[in-house]
Amino acid sequence: MVQASGLEGVVVADTELSEVDGERGRLVVRGHDIEQLAGRHDFEAVCALLWSGALPDAAAHAALRRELGEARSRAWQRLGGLGDALAAADAMDALRACLAHLRSADVPLPRLRVELTAAVALAAAAWACRRRGAAPLCPDPALGHAADYLRMAGHSGSDAARAAALDAYLVTAADHGMNASTFTARVVASTHSDPVSAVVAALCALKGPLHGGAPGPVLAMLDAIGQPQHAAGWIARETAAGHRIMGMGHRVYRVRDPRAAVLERAVERLRDAGVHSDRLELARAVEAVAVASLKEHRPERRLAANVEFYTAVVLDAVGLPQELFSATFAVARVAGWLAHIDEQLAHGRLIRPSSRYVGPMPEQAVAV
Ligand code: COA
Repeated sequence: MVQASGLEGVVVADTELSEVDGERGRLVVRGHDIEQLAGRHDFEAVCALLWSGALPDAAAHAALRRELGEARSRAWQRLGGLGDALAAADAMDALRACLAHLRSADVPLPRLRVELTAAVALAAAAWACRRRGAAPLCPDPALGHAADYLRMAGHSGSDAARAAALDAYLVTAADHGMNASTFTARVVASTHSDPVSAVVAALCALKGPLHGGAPGPVLAMLDAIGQPQHAAGWIARETAAGHRIMGMGHRVYRVRDPRAAVLERAVERLRDAGVHSDRLELARAVEAVAVASLKEHRPERRLAANVEFYTAVVLDAVGLPQELFSATFAVARVAGWLAHIDEQLAHGRLIRPSSRYVGPMPEQAVAV
């Protein structure tokens, strides 16, 4: 009989990049707890941490911020050559088509890291503009990556508080152990294919609703529930129908995902800065009901809120449309993919696991 292991518990690489402790609910990125990074360091600092091993000093930080800004401008200049890539109805389809236009040939990896990271943000924001019938907005290289992404995505109320909340999200989502898209990137890199191909493949894995496609449906769920007092009935109906509750459960975490708490705090900070999110209280109520209901139905599985639950709340609070949530995840995670590609190329070996054949065998061995 065919059984699906999903490679659960299988160690496929040694890594210095990040560690996910599923029992204790802890995420460590290159020696830093995620709580020490999000809200204290910006996305550029965490890119430097992932790509070079240490948080940057002021000069290195300024240099990377400038390089990313210039790369966003170059990505903007390439928009005209992307054909109808941005016309895709789905943001992830558009991103896949846009990134596929990039070429790795003869470009050193440090430069490619910056180009790809900038290109993902530029393309996602340009898609958002086009979707609402507006012309893409030109980048402002003087801004930080999070603030410029928010501005280019066309948020009219983009301000320091919202940019800081988005920065906290990008930092929180930048890397997370051997998740499905990161593994995909490493498999492609392990064949000595090129980094652009590895990133495009990773993006395709991220698109799925069991991975990076969950926050949109989480927001749709919150909208469908509408009021905290409707949560119990709605969750009971979904559970009875055998549907999964989006934003709940995780392959590794057996407790609440630590990133959920980090993002919940980011929304609180936004509220303290005067940006109200009426979905925060609703999300908390739905989470409590969902956890209790899943505990009753699946006591052996220990299902709790994952990062996507509060991703939906924070991205909605900063003003990004639901259709852009998965692409915004890619804006963050591309930093981690590129670090893993580098590590795979430096220390890895062709990834080629085995399978267990459970099909029929010929009745007689063929004489040769
Ligand atoms: N709601 C209801 N039941 C859930 C569930 C959820 N969110 N997550 C897992 N389960 C159940 C499954 O139905 C399965 O039941 P079964 O054994 O009767 O088939 C059991 O728990 C084990 O699920 P499985 O899919 O094997 O776990 P996994 O480790 O492969 O899956 C996820 C992890 C994240 C894919 C899974 O928890 C999920 O689908 N969550 C919702 C999507 C989501 O939020 N994704 C974002 C992840 S960061």
